Amino acid sequence: MSMDFPQFRKLEGAQNLYVIEGPKHVTEWQPMGKSNWVMHQHFASDYPRYQWVTELLQGEDPVRILTADAWEQLRSERSVTSADPAPGRTPWPPTPSSWREEAPVGPLTTFGAAAHAQCLAEMASDADVRWALQDRVELPLMVLGGGSNLLMHQDWAGRMLHMNIRGVQKIADDGDAVEVVVGAGESWHGWVMHALDAGWNGLENLALIPGSVGASPMQNIGAYGVEVKDRFAWLEAIHRDTGALERFDSKRCAFGYRDSVFKQAEKDKWVIVRVAFSLERTAPLNTQYGAIQSELQSRGGDHDTTHRQVAEAVITIRQSKLPDPSEIGNAGSFFKNPVVSRDAFERIQRNHPEVAHYPAPEGRVKLAAGWLIDRAGWKGHRRGTCGVHDGQALVLVNYGGATGAEIWALALDIMEDVEGKYGVRLEPEVNQIGL
Ligand code: EPU
Repeated sequence: MSMDFPQFRKLEGAQNLYVIEGPKHVTEWQPMGKSNWVMHQHFASDYPRYQWVTELLQGEDPVRILTADAWEQLRSERSVTSADPAPGRTPWPPTPSSWREEAPVGPLTTFGAAAHAQCLAEMASDADVRWALQDRVELPLMVLGGGSNLLMHQDWAGRMLHMNIRGVQKIADDGDAVEVVVGAGESWHGWVMHALDAGWNGLENLALIPGSVGASPMQNIGAYGVEVKDRFAWLEAIHRDTGALERFDSKRCAFGYRDSVFKQAEKDKWVIVRVAFSLERTAPLNTQYGAIQSELQSRGGDHDTTHRQVAEAVITIRQSKLPDPSEIGNAGSFFKNPVVSRDAFERIQRNHPEVAHYPAPEGRVKLAAGWLIDRAGWKGHRRGTCGVHDGQALVLVNYGGATGAEIWALALDIMEDVEGKYGVRLEPEVNQIGL
């Protein structure tokens, strides 16, 4: 299979080289002095640039179409300076990547259920991703980020791409607001702490969420009154079939509660390679969530609260309630908080006046799945190698050696019991692989 992108071009009569990354995205290498290139990104966000990209794609005089090898031959005649590429945007060609056969993937997931991938490769750049998308195309493809939101039910009979694009780059700064691009393979918590260290605030409530930066917009991760969408600027993703690199703004991502277009209409169509965030040195604090308020108070919060203190409070709360995946296998909340009609809610409330609930859009009501599971008697329940966490009933845990099938059997029993007792069908929040 050959992909539509990237495509390579040269401007005749000049030395400028182009890589067309997608229908609206071009990287230009412009000669500088005798031996250097300057690399620019062009986004066809307005009509004249869109027209320019279209003409480059057509490749008519004075534009010449090049093969990747011919393009690289010309590029290698100079070195790249001031390239300043965003994380993962290493110049063509990639360093050769390779597959690891029958790779164990349990250790790459926080649940730690044992499984193998038929072949696995590390993705350190866009070029690696494009290589992997075009290689062994007969095999199904799976993208693995931090492995913190999935349960492997069996071996993966296909290609697995382990996202390892690293790097953090500030691209705009007006003295207060900054825009920062982060490689999809960075750890989410590592990035949140890095941002706090740099004084870029706004993500502190999302400290200690396991997983990777690239996965964060997929399910619009959230905690303690903040969601990724609140600080999201844009992301770039490579189309699995065409290889096109495209930018998604917030609107195109269609964020919802633990939801985005990447779980709906665009499911399994893209590989997210980097995410940009809009942060502020003077970001307002989000401390309205009860648990945060009491934690801050217990720390003697009579002076002005800082963003770092909020992060520390969140870390303390999470550590007290949620199991540390490096000690006990888990994938955070196993179920979503169910959203039900007001009628259904009132029926439950009649028998259980204390049911935990929150207003949801369109007059509906969000119930706390943790509460339902807890009151159904499952909190702390242990079944051999797996069980329900004793600090938060929404979290299933692998005490060591549990298989995906065993954990799923427990999940099904919980779902059936909760449905029988409350008439509410829970849905897993964790992705089920190979079910
Ligand atoms: N509750 C219980 N028993 C439990 C757990 C919860 O009675 O075992 C009650 C609590 O007392 C509270 C309500 O249920 O009244 C809600 O509990 P909590 O504040 O712990 O939040 P949650 O709705 O259970 C969600 C997220 C968590 C996130 C917290 C804090 C989902 C699916 N989960 O949990 O996210 O940390 O809010 O904002 O939305 C994750 O996604 O992996 C995750 C941990």
